[in-house]
Amino acid sequence: MPRFGGNSNYFRDFASRTGDRMMLKMEHYLDIYPRLVGHLRGQDISFLEIGVYKGGSIPMWKGYFGPSAHLTFLDIDPACLQLALPGTTVEIGDQSDPDFLSRMADRRGPFDLIIDDGGHHMDQQITSFNALWPRLNDGGLYIVEDTHTSYWPGFGGGFREPASFMEFAKDLIDRMHSWYTDQDDAFPLHPLAAEIGSIRFYDSMVVIEKHMKEAPISIAALDGQVRCSRKMLQVRGRKSIF
Ligand SMILES: C[S@@+](CC[C@H](N)C(=O)[O-])C[C@H]1O[C@@H](n2cnc3c(N)ncnc32)[C@H](O)[C@@H]1O
Repeated sequence: MPRFGGNSNYFRDFASRTGDRMMLKMEHYLDIYPRLVGHLRGQDISFLEIGVYKGGSIPMWKGYFGPSAHLTFLDIDPACLQLALPGTTVEIGDQSDPDFLSRMADRRGPFDLIIDDGGHHMDQQITSFNALWPRLNDGGLYIVEDTHTSYWPGFGGGFREPASFMEFAKDLIDRMHSWYTDQDDAFPLHPLAAEIGSIRFYDSMVVIEKHMKEAPISIAALDGQVRCSRKMLQVRGRKSIF
């Protein structure tokens, strides 16, 4: 049986001193979290995690972010209501219901950080992303966990399965770059080009960063002078923009 180890950090320490609330995470997430969300620690942020189960992650995030954070946890199972801790809110509903997500976000959003650790089915992950991405603040992170289910037929996945979340996430890479082409028919400009700053693929985790931006410019810097231009993009990119 593999053993729990690694360098100590808040999340590893938390995992090794949990009480009667089970927490379910992949071990390597515990080393990714500090790098991903460390800048939000102690801040007045709005946080949403989809998927409560036995409630183990509620004290983990509460302890990490501190008393200024507004923490919401969502699950389809009404039994999770009783797992809310002081200063946290548990919402009950279906992550594959956009109307529910919209009403919930009206009450609790917009968010700086959204983690989807819910049912992990393809339709759930994609529907939740589409409904909640507009409710993520500029500079915020949208994290989808356990994306290995994209390779599991029982979750609607499979290798290069077009309906999988992994293929959806790969498609976001193209959307983010849709400034840089003039293939209007095959590859139209997508609004997400102006909204996505980065897409990170970790083992079993996809992180999409919101960064609202203008059409990109290139710079030529010399002798302390910086010249900005869109000339190269005018020639090679989408004519309708540059
Ligand atoms: C992996 S567990 C959550 C683990 C928890 N985040 C933790 O770190 O310990 C998944 C949870 O997602 C919930 N879930 C499944 N389908 C859902 C749906 N359609 N909408 C909302 N929650 C759902 C399940 O009830 C279950 O409690």
